[in-house]
Amino acid sequence: MEGGKLSAPGIERCHEAAKLLVGSGENFEKLKNFLQEPFNWAAVRFAAESLMLPKRADFQEEDPQLFQISSVIGKKLQANKEVILLDYGAGKGRLARMLKENLNAIQRKKIKYIAVEPDGSCEEEIRQSAGDMLAGSRVIKDGKNLSEYTGKVDVAVLCNVLHEIEPTQWRNELTIILQALNSQGSLIICEDHAIPAGELPHKLGFIILDAGELKTLFSLEEKPHCKWHPDDRYKDRLLCVEITKEKATVNDTSVKSALQDLSIRLKSLIKNMRVEPKTLKAREGRMYALYSQMLVNCQFTLEELSQKQRRANIVDIPKRHRAKKSTLSSLRSE
Ligand SMILES: C[S@@+](CC[C@H](N)C(=O)[O-])C[C@H]1O[C@@H](n2cnc3c(N)ncnc32)[C@H](O)[C@@H]1O
Repeated sequence: MEGGKLSAPGIERCHEAAKLLVGSGENFEKLKNFLQEPFNWAAVRFAAESLMLPKRADFQEEDPQLFQISSVIGKKLQANKEVILLDYGAGKGRLARMLKENLNAIQRKKIKYIAVEPDGSCEEEIRQSAGDMLAGSRVIKDGKNLSEYTGKVDVAVLCNVLHEIEPTQWRNELTIILQALNSQGSLIICEDHAIPAGELPHKLGFIILDAGELKTLFSLEEKPHCKWHPDDRYKDRLLCVEITKEKATVNDTSVKSALQDLSIRLKSLIKNMRVEPKTLKAREGRMYALYSQMLVNCQFTLEELSQKQRRANIVDIPKRHRAKKSTLSSLRSE
């Protein structure tokens, strides 16, 4: 209300009303800063966290990500006599615990649970969570030791793990996982696209791919089957993508192309945030920092991949040179 007249509360009017209340000088600047604080604070905090080691989640009832994965496992349980499940990067065995608590004894008997987890300190918790579902008697520390399961696995799960694997290893590790799957098998990739805290899982920083970029990474012709979590609280956050083994391959070119696609998407998201009116809410600050960090990570990774390629070419030159020489000498001796 101004001068006895009531006006609708548009953004410009609020701005003017605030000036009338506190004056247009220093106080107005202070009020502006105060209102911007959630955005600024969240952005700075996320950027600072992006220098810290990642954390592992504990099991909790009605976990939204486990809900997404359970529908795929449920379908396999209905269709198959036995389900061989690979939990790659099992952490504290959150998935195993969910299965143990939610399946009946007959269903549990059908599951053979294989856990790959490099961090030995998680082993006991994984064993406890999996109980008698654990295939063999051990937690596997390195994906390279999965050869006994080649062509046998029905479902492989990477839940919040792909972004922790250094992209220079994606080709090798994802190929190992695809090789472990049987011909009907699928790989489930779940990621939180609005991770609440930044992290530094390895020197190149986290990279979170959307369904289109995963299509490129796995050299697929069609976009893979994907589901965003239906609940409004996790809308545009929790994505679960199912990659079927058939036709999926990961190679150096597909890794590079997926990162280039991601880089283009991030630039566009950041550009949009620069022109669109800002809500100045904490979530927006966090997302701004997330996109900016990930764009830098993407750049570092593409540089690292190019250097790796250059190093490989240099090592290759003497070999090619030797090959040329031996061809020449064999020609001479003929
Ligand atoms: C954020 S935790 C997720 C754990 C679990 N999947 C979950 O959803 O609770 C990521 C896990 O991936 C593991 N990890 C990181 N790099 C890996 C790699 N190259 N191979 C297998 N696991 C890896 C980490 O040790 C960590 O336990």
